[in-house]
Amino acid sequence: VRRHPALHRLTEEHHHALLQARRLREADERTIKARTQQFLTRWRSEIQPHFREEETALLPCVCPPLQAGAAPVPEVCAYHVRIRRAVMVLQRAHFADDDAARLAAAHDLAELLEEHIRQEERELFEALQEALGDEGMTALGEHLTAWETGASDVLGLPEAGEETDPT
Ligand SMILES: [Fe+2]
Ligand SMILES: [Fe+2]
Repeated sequence: VRRHPALHRLTEEHHHALLQARRLREADERTIKARTQQFLTRWRSEIQPHFREEETALLPCVCPPLQAGAAPVPEVCAYHVRIRRAVMVLQRAHFADDDAARLAAAHDLAELLEEHIRQEERELFEALQEALGDEGMTALGEHLTAWETGASDVLGLPEAGEETDPT
């Protein structure tokens, strides 16, 4: 299924986060310190805001029509918690200037982040496009833009899409 334009920005941010995850995963004793520093900077400026947008704008806006208790929503939330914790563990190792701990934490974090992004792209976004339909996705895109620009007084909530015949 093609990605709806409403999700293009989040998908692009996923590509950037995956790049950061790969740099952590492939780090060695020689590169881990600088890469951890770079990751933590990106975490604060890009990745954490992306998580916040998903938690505070995307998911509340799409549950319903997606069921908050049914896959993939709880898994997405659980990953956010686990990743936030993994970032704290990496931060602690970084402040302690402990390379072995930094490497272990970086590899754990990279793995979680990669799994999570794949899951959002393959399960959450697919489920959204199916549940919302084209009209709902357009409303979602407007909602996310309003959230991003701080225009929260114009936030709209998409309804479930019309049942469409795929043939
Ligand atoms: Fe996420
Ligand atoms: Fe995401």
